[in-house]
Amino acid sequence: MSDPNTLLAAISSIAGTRAAAVRLSDGRASLILDVTGLSGDERSKMEAAIKAALMAEDGVSEVRIAMTSEKRGRRLIAVGSGKGGVGKSTVSANLAIALKRLGFKVGLIDADIYGPSQPRLMSTEGQRPEAQDQKMIPIMSPYGIPMLSMGHLVKPGQAIAWRGPMAGNALGQLIDADWGDVELIIADLPPGTGDVQLSMISKQKPAGAVIVSTPQDLSLIDATRAIDLFNQSGVPIIGLIENMAGYACPHCGEISDPFGSGGVQAAANVMGHDFLGRIPLTLEIRTASDAGQPPAAEDGPAATPFHAIAAKIKDWLAQ
Ligand SMILES: Nc1ncnc2c1ncn2[C@@H]1O[C@H](COP(=O)(O)OP(=O)(O)OP(=O)(O)O)[C@@H](O)[C@H]1O
Ligand SMILES: [Mg+2]
Repeated sequence: MSDPNTLLAAISSIAGTRAAAVRLSDGRASLILDVTGLSGDERSKMEAAIKAALMAEDGVSEVRIAMTSEKRGRRLIAVGSGKGGVGKSTVSANLAIALKRLGFKVGLIDADIYGPSQPRLMSTEGQRPEAQDQKMIPIMSPYGIPMLSMGHLVKPGQAIAWRGPMAGNALGQLIDADWGDVELIIADLPPGTGDVQLSMISKQKPAGAVIVSTPQDLSLIDATRAIDLFNQSGVPIIGLIENMAGYACPHCGEISDPFGSGGVQAAANVMGHDFLGRIPLTLEIRTASDAGQPPAAEDGPAATPFHAIAAKIKDWLAQ
């Protein structure tokens, strides 16, 4: 009986490093194929050759290939985590603003279609995107960042209980919107390593991924799973961010470490990934976020870590 490794080996001479996330379940082999730079003809030939090779393998009765390619001139950065509530959305909003301040034309996608939070964070709650030529036009936030979120398409608080394929379609519409001259899209992902993450990777392959974790062991173990998913899909890891590390007392400034700190940096070292920086747990970050005023829009102590991380991402993009 074949397993994903034997399947990958069977197509290695055809697809090289273009094949990723090879899976086999109930006789159905599935994979993501990166077709960046191939002509339509080359794609079809490669697809047919892969199908034939896989169908010849033991236990394969069906083959599904999801094509992905890097869109020319527009790069997507995925912000992910294994665990919920670690601050992905806060980090995404602030990095979008900080990267804009570094001169990029930045857009923001809230890919957390089950629990969108960017409309609140970016002060665009209650706004609805218009459509032109079947494409959505992103909403302009007060921080000069065009953005789209499922939160703009459904009523606040409305339970978004969608199944996988619908979620994938919705996400596709956000990615295929009329982004104009945006050159960098920050995608705030839902927690975990499920269908939404995979369908995003297959709609537009991220140029890189940033992983957010809190210092706790459990959060770190989950972060490793998120990293595995990006690795399997051929998406480079830009680096890890430690959020909520050390509580800075608003009265005396003394730092205490309710969850410990330094764990994410140590884990990044072990895994051979870059450590992008540490964001402390502060009341200011929480209240500013809840009020729709991301700290990175201003200068000050709460903004500094976001700007430092954005500068590292800029360096990475320049490589
Ligand atoms: N460094 C920080 N200091 C203080 N509060 C923070 C910090 N980072 C995030 N928070 C707060 O923690 C809560 C969770 O953050 P956020 O929504 O960004 O996490 P998330 O990973 O996107 O969560 P979800 O998994 O639900 O999408 C929010 O109330 C946010 O304001
Ligand atoms: Mg979130």
